[in-house]
Amino acid sequence: MDFPALPYFPITIDTEFSHLRYAVCQCLQSHDAKRRKMLQHELQKLWISESNPNYVMALLSVRTGFDLFLTVKNFPPGSEVIMSAINIPDMIPLDISIDTLEPKIDLLPKLISAKTVAIVVAHLYGRIINMQPVIDAAAEFNLAVIEDCAESFCGFSHIGHPDSDLALFSFGVMKFYTSFGGCIAKVKDQEILQKMQTFYETYPVQTSGMYLKKVLKYSILYSWLQVGFLPKFGQEVLSRLGVDYKSLFVGLMRGFPDKMLEMIRWQPSTALLATMLYRQKAFKPSEFDLQKIKGQYFLQNLPEGFEAVGEHAYINNFWLFPVLVEEVDTVVNTLNLLGVEAYRGATQLSIVEPSGGEERSSILDPLSPKDKATLNAHYPHEAKFLIDHVIYLPVHKLVPIYILDQMLKICSLAMKSSKQPDTRFLPTRNKLFKSKL
Ligand SMILES: Cc1ncc(COP(=O)(O)O)c(C=O)c1O
Repeated sequence: MDFPALPYFPITIDTEFSHLRYAVCQCLQSHDAKRRKMLQHELQKLWISESNPNYVMALLSVRTGFDLFLTVKNFPPGSEVIMSAINIPDMIPLDISIDTLEPKIDLLPKLISAKTVAIVVAHLYGRIINMQPVIDAAAEFNLAVIEDCAESFCGFSHIGHPDSDLALFSFGVMKFYTSFGGCIAKVKDQEILQKMQTFYETYPVQTSGMYLKKVLKYSILYSWLQVGFLPKFGQEVLSRLGVDYKSLFVGLMRGFPDKMLEMIRWQPSTALLATMLYRQKAFKPSEFDLQKIKGQYFLQNLPEGFEAVGEHAYINNFWLFPVLVEEVDTVVNTLNLLGVEAYRGATQLSIVEPSGGEERSSILDPLSPKDKATLNAHYPHEAKFLIDHVIYLPVHKLVPIYILDQMLKICSLAMKSSKQPDTRFLPTRNKLFKSKL
């Protein structure tokens, strides 16, 4: 049986040549302060609704907004931020459910200390979680709420919870409706907004040249990943040259590959603001419907041995297509051999490891730090399980249904041939967590 390589990658750049051309043209034009103000104003209008009248700032990235908010809040040194346990590192993790991707709010009281000042909740993989329990718990413990909506833009019906102190939406290159960078921040409190604005104005403004360089880089990546015969050709050429093209492409898509703090403390160029407005004004819900139909189709037919992620989320949009498998490397290698470009490292997401576990569980003192982490009831076991077992499949709106069918057959074959050592793995997963606690 022949298995031709299927030219679809788990990550897409949600764009067309006309958007890239628009961005390039904006970089080549000169813009005055009046146009910059007008673009900011138009973006603000798009993002303010009756149900969420919070203030709007157009920023360079989600990380810029997060950094800016924490700077102006000026929390005392040693303050702790609790964070749903899959995101960027160095925070207090709050475990999440694989089924809904919601944080386990009932664990929150055990994690809170006198130093806790805020909670950050991420809506992962395009799923939108119900924020109300988080908002209620935060009010009870007097915590600021930061809603990380980096992966969850799906139009203007969901623009963050009005009671979140800060909600951040990313338009980086891997995100829906990308403008090849950029972020929208919704800020609840006027005083905080003013402080953020004052501080922000001290940042240098990204030049058109800096933005142009990014757009040109992404134009090349877009062509190689998504245009005509090029993905197949590019895959073959790079493979023959011994280049791991998947990690090369994912690496090139990173918004701030190095000197992160230095690189995020900029204001967006006017060309970037114009591209954000151009793309967001043209928002069409039907594009999400297509992604959803294909995601649901694949999910409903998911072969045995693959477990869905976020299947029962409050709102289930599909940004990337994560699934869980037991023998991760074996399954990925087998799928790759059979022509399906499954990949492990499609995102920067990682487990947020607790750093203060030892203080909180003195009875575990005699154990090694690793065993302590495993046995500690505060440890985010389910999030850890997700990160250790997740792979990303090329399921998205660009993949025709007949290819999805082909992929489903290959997934089933790959699972059988990778000889799962423990086929009872899925039904016993919950027990696994319980016995570890
Ligand atoms: C959950 C989450 N938070 C934050 C970020 C950072 O977004 P930005 O690149 O706009 O800083 C990302 C980016 O991938 C993300 O997925």
